Amino acid sequence: MTTHAQELERYRSEKKESYALYGRAEKVLPLGVSSNFRTYEPYPIYIQRAQGSKMWDVDGREYTDFSMCFGALMVGHSHPVMVEAIAKAASEGTLYGMPHDREIRAAELICDRFGLEQMRFTNSGSEATLHALRMVRAFTGRDKIVKFEGGYHGGHDTVLVSVKPPRSKIGHVRSPKALAVGHGIPALTVENTLVATWNDLASVRGLFERHGNDVAGVIVEPVMMNVGVMPPRDGFLQELRDLCDEFGALLVFDEVKTGAKLAWGGAQPYFQVKADVVCLAKAVGGGLPLGAFGARRELMDEIGSFRSFHAGTYASNPLATTASITALEKILVPEVYPKATALGDALAEGHSKIIKKHGHPWCAVNHGTSGTVYWRKTPPTNYREWLDQDFDAFWRYWHMNLNRGVIPQAQCYDEQWTVSALHTQGDVDRMLSVFDEIAREMK
Ligand SMILES: Cc1ncc(COP(=O)(O)O)c(C=O)c1O
Repeated sequence: MTTHAQELERYRSEKKESYALYGRAEKVLPLGVSSNFRTYEPYPIYIQRAQGSKMWDVDGREYTDFSMCFGALMVGHSHPVMVEAIAKAASEGTLYGMPHDREIRAAELICDRFGLEQMRFTNSGSEATLHALRMVRAFTGRDKIVKFEGGYHGGHDTVLVSVKPPRSKIGHVRSPKALAVGHGIPALTVENTLVATWNDLASVRGLFERHGNDVAGVIVEPVMMNVGVMPPRDGFLQELRDLCDEFGALLVFDEVKTGAKLAWGGAQPYFQVKADVVCLAKAVGGGLPLGAFGARRELMDEIGSFRSFHAGTYASNPLATTASITALEKILVPEVYPKATALGDALAEGHSKIIKKHGHPWCAVNHGTSGTVYWRKTPPTNYREWLDQDFDAFWRYWHMNLNRGVIPQAQCYDEQWTVSALHTQGDVDRMLSVFDEIAREMK
């Protein structure tokens, strides 16, 4: 049996080039990274290249990758069809700052697939939710937005509230306190963000009863994916839909992760619930930075009539829209989802069997192409239950995986694995055999 300290020693001894890069990076990049979510102890591996379901670090070590850039690479790394299309597009100009045919084709594909009448492009998920919420506020003439405790919707102030609030400050489960994520978020902004408990309709109704006339909309990730993979209980999304209708508010689906991963068409057909606004990014971009938000024409008219603002130098650039068209038309086709879901289900079943075999108090889940191990006996159903986990066990598992050539999910215990179009049964078998060894060692 190896201890966590021994695993960390091995990590340091095998990832020396990464350490050298980390030393350089720290001088110019806070934490040595360009996004807070990429940092972890003792220092991250630095990647040299990626292909298919594999990545290689600067120390020359190969990893079977189930992080797939936080789910953005549902097409897989450097899919040959994507590489060819992107290379051709790059040779024809990367930015025009003027309209072109590819943005129309990409918009047609996205509108058709996600049941939207109109949409606008952004470059990221954060921008998509930011513009969507502004439009929702403009349409309703109201300022308050309801979000769920533990939900992440990007890096702008309205939604940087109660993402991972500390247990000591969160208040009663029926009326969670709205807590800013770090400094720099104006108190006045936090006042306009109301926080409810996932899967608890009474907590949402309570907010509507207190603030109903001021609530512009409810933003919800249909399967919460910044607390592992946490689905709604049966009927919950429809109940939210009904509550929004009752109080004249709009329902916003943040499908940045679920959109092109949960199923073809995303959460609306999957759960048979219609949202007013859909936000997209990650996998719909085919590996390039692209986001979108869309709705029925009446709502998008807020932008069409110049009442609500949307613009962006890089929005709908020919490179990203070409990648999106290629991904949606050629790779993320309906047939890919049952195949990737079956591999994801096999991962969850395999993990569950291994957990049982070694008698650990953990569990594993998969929904669509995303899954995770929870470091507790049963899958949590809200953020507070999610907090009740053995996070130390996660970090030991994380380092043990990296030492054995597997990136089991995106980094940190709140993320999940992604089964892409390029993953195979061989990748699933590899991850499970490493997990078997880890679970045995961690007994
Ligand atoms: C559900 C959800 N919404 C929004 C975002 C923000 O997207 P981006 O990182 O592209 O700004 C993320 C990112 O992980 C996300 O998971």
